[in-house]
Amino acid sequence: MPAHRVTLGVAGGIAAYKAAELARALMERDCAVQVVMTRAAEEFVRPLTFAALTGNKVITNLFAATGASEDTLSSAIEHIRVAQESDVLVVAPATTDILAKFAHGLADDFLSTTYLAFTGPVVLAPAMNTNMWNHPATQANLRTLRERGHVIVEPGSGPLACGMVGPGRLAEIDVIANAVLAALMPAPRDLQGETILITAGPTQEPLDPVRYITNRSSGKMGYALAADAHARGARVILVSGPVNIPAPSGVELISVRTAVEMRDAVIGHLPESTIIIKSAAVADYHRADVPQQKVKKSASHLTLDLEPTPDILAECGRQKGDRLLVGFAAETENLIEFARRKLESKNCDIVVANNVATVGTGFDANDNEVTLVLRSGENIHVAKAPKSEIAHRIFDQIVRLRLALHSAR
Ligand code: PMT
Repeated sequence: MPAHRVTLGVAGGIAAYKAAELARALMERDCAVQVVMTRAAEEFVRPLTFAALTGNKVITNLFAATGASEDTLSSAIEHIRVAQESDVLVVAPATTDILAKFAHGLADDFLSTTYLAFTGPVVLAPAMNTNMWNHPATQANLRTLRERGHVIVEPGSGPLACGMVGPGRLAEIDVIANAVLAALMPAPRDLQGETILITAGPTQEPLDPVRYITNRSSGKMGYALAADAHARGARVILVSGPVNIPAPSGVELISVRTAVEMRDAVIGHLPESTIIIKSAAVADYHRADVPQQKVKKSASHLTLDLEPTPDILAECGRQKGDRLLVGFAAETENLIEFARRKLESKNCDIVVANNVATVGTGFDANDNEVTLVLRSGENIHVAKAPKSEIAHRIFDQIVRLRLALHSAR
């Protein structure tokens, strides 16, 4: 008998055909799959495809047109049975329509009624046109669903069936299938009792009242760390530069703009922290005296006089005591050598070496690939994976190190 029971909701979008691959990927991961299709999904793929793949009857209607009163009753409450017999509900593709229904608790078909009757983990893999994805209504619904604790498997960016280029393409099937399995595994509570201070995102260093220097950090890596730490039982203080993603639920968010503001927030919260993780991409230089007025275009050249920003990681390294300090190193060459130098010079316990010259990982990507450079001399490579998975692996090492340090005392 398969280990897990998955309800796979298929909503009506071009990507509906990919749900067949997902059904197969889930079955390969020891899952029994019950497919529920919306009426619109049937316009894109025939239920028979899923029935043949999964070996299960596909559910399409809330009220099957049977005529016999007993059958009508059993089909009317079937969504309750499906909800009770499932370990996880995944919807792929999740259209704007189904996200809106879920967010607002509308229940006018089998999938939306099953969602309301279901109390387990929910994984949503949206796929839609870029403008629909970016629309404030969709983003507000996504915020609601995230706050409810649901896993949103972010869509990829690229050319879409509608001819547009941008976010909206259904995430890779393996990424969705792994997210489903991860949602099934209760997070270990191995960070309970820790207060973890995490920095994320870029800083913005003003040049005048309307211009600033920044970088391409999206905050995704730091926010994934914050979400994982919270799920594993830690109190999380997230000091974040300006980003466009919502803070994970349950974390204490401190929004900052500049490196100096980030430094003050970090040093201010250092005494209450037991673990510090510096994943932010802090500007190394800033303009010390920012003019009050907009700089006018006058000469053919403009030379900016910039001064170093405070080195927050180095300051944490000097003040850390027995706290555990994890730095990041974003490098485009000599990755491990430069990371190890940072480990020594900033008094870190771990440096997460991040090759930022590769495409599809690092800055502003959903995935990352890192090497954990440890004080013991070990280098642990973590292969390309969603940032949530990378964050989990980083905390696995932190927990390991914490245990080793405690038992050495
Ligand atoms: O935000 P994402 O889009 O998800 O991208 C993630 C990331 C690529 C930004 C992240 O994985 C990463 O590599 N973060 C570190 C970026 C960086 O600034 O690296 P660095 O090698 O320049 O800095 C080394 C360390 O010193 C970092 O821990 C940094 O936070 C810290 N630092 C840097 C400058 C400064 N003035 N103070 C600091 O504390």
